[in-house]
Parts: sequence; structure tokens; C-alpha cells
Amino acid sequence: MSQSSAPETQQDKLLQHKRIALARMGIPLFSTRDGHLASTLEHQHQDQLLTESDKISNLLAENVSIEEEAEIAQNLNSAASAEAAVATATVESKPTNPTTKLMEWQTLIGNIQSCTACPLHQTRQATVVGDGDLQADWMAIGEAPSAEEAKIGIPFADSNGALLNAMFQALGLSRGQKLYLTTILKSHTPNNRDPSPEEMDACQPFLEQQVRLVQPKVIIAIGRVAAHRLLGEELSGASLSDLRGKVHQVKIAGITLPLIVTYHPTYLMRSPSQKAKAWDDMRLAWQCYQKILQTA
Ligand code: URA
Repeated sequence: MSQSSAPETQQDKLLQHKRIALARMGIPLFSTRDGHLASTLEHQHQDQLLTESDKISNLLAENVSIEEEAEIAQNLNSAASAEAAVATATVESKPTNPTTKLMEWQTLIGNIQSCTACPLHQTRQATVVGDGDLQADWMAIGEAPSAEEAKIGIPFADSNGALLNAMFQALGLSRGQKLYLTTILKSHTPNNRDPSPEEMDACQPFLEQQVRLVQPKVIIAIGRVAAHRLLGEELSGASLSDLRGKVHQVKIAGITLPLIVTYHPTYLMRSPSQKAKAWDDMRLAWQCYQKILQTA
């Protein structure tokens, strides 16, 4: 289907409708090779203050009924072969049923919001699921949201987060474009103390489900707590500088993924002389990603 022309057939109309609805949520499921639709519509942060739950509920409630979603999905499946010629490698390698995925996200968000598995539920005001492209090749994982981030439901939303954004933007990645950000803990901790092992265990199934849904190709561990948690007990005594500079392999949700460790932006704001090292980490991650794409 041509990107510039108006929809011609009913199938095109459904496809267009679905693309716009999903792109509005930052899910470029059907972006074409030139990325036109995705780059013009997706995740322009007009929905920034909506939580992901709101976005997904809005999509399901406001745009189409579940039945219509199913119908659209069916139409999309038959349109998929026609689309194959223009689909990106990323899209091709992540076959999805959009309706099922949306519902799985919705369930996950509900489970996170209602979770009482650790005592943090008694003090938290809200939970944070994540932010960004729900089909991202890159998943960056931090420690836990701050209280302010929990209020707006977006991780890494402060000036430290802006630095993190800039680091990824240098690679051409943004929260709406191939990058998904989340945290080990979905609740903030009192006075931003380090998460306890029990709290991290309680949140582990949520992270695993996010990995299953997003299917990233590369994981970036942001900071010491995330790195130690993701790399496991064996490396829990290692310093961040020992863990940086290599491509680790981790198994999350049964999927083995390369993981690169970098500094937390809060540390980089305090120690700007270390920013060059963070850039080295980004370059290492980029090389790793290119290798994955070449061998895919
Ligand atoms: N916000 C923080 O302050 N730290 C993290 O690790 C993630 C989000």
C-alpha cells in the first residue's frame, strides 16, 4: 500500500486505522521500510502524561471494540503478505497478534498496579510500568522509579532521564523509536533507598513478562543495582567498572540476550568526566546490535 495515498479499499482503511491507532500509542507494528508512518505519528509525546494503562485502555475503548479489534487483526493478517515486501526486518522478526499483545499488556499493567507481593505497596502512590516502543530492539533497565516518576507513570523522567535520552539519541534511538525503558522495581522505594532482594524478586515476573512482550535484541543495564540484579549473584560483588566494557549474556524469561552495563545517569550528572565512558558503553552496545542484525 502506498504511504502517501488515501486508503482505497476496506482492507486498506482497516490497516490505516490500525496503524494510526497503534502508532499513537507508540507501537510501530506496521511501519514501512522508510519509517514514514512510524516516524511521523508514533510517540510524539502528546500522550506523555497518560500512563500506558490509560493509553491502552483508550485504544481499546475509544477507537475500536474488542470485536472490531479482532476483525482488524484478521484483516491485517491477510494484508500481511502484501505488506511483507515493505516490512522492516525488525517487524518481520517479531510476529505478533496486535490484539493479543495489547490485551497482554493491559493484563500486565493491571497486575502491576494491584500487586501486593511486597511491602512497598503500602507506601507507594502509584506504579511505573515502562515507557517507549513496545516492540523495541533495545530495552534499558534501571533500578526503581523516583516518587516523582511514579506520580506521572514514566521512568527516567527527570533531568537525569534527559541525559539518558541524549545518550540513546546519539545512537538514533528514542523512547518511541526502538527503545523501551523500564525498571527492576515498579514501585519507588522510601527515600530512594536501594531495592531489597525480596522486593526485586517480587517484581521479577513483571520484568520477565515485559521482555516476553517486547522481545528486545539488546539489554542495557543502567547502573549498579540493575546490573547486579540482571547479571545474577555470581557477579554481585563486582564493581560497575568491572562489569562495563563487555557484552554479557543473560537469560530472562527463557530468552538469552546480550547485556551491556553502563553508568546510571544520576552518577553521570554528578561525575560528568565519566560521560565519555558511558558513550563507550553505547558504542559497544551499538556494535553488538549491528552484529545481531547482520547475523539475523
Ligand atoms: N528513575 C530513577 O531515579 N532511577 C532509575 O533507575 C530509574 C528511574
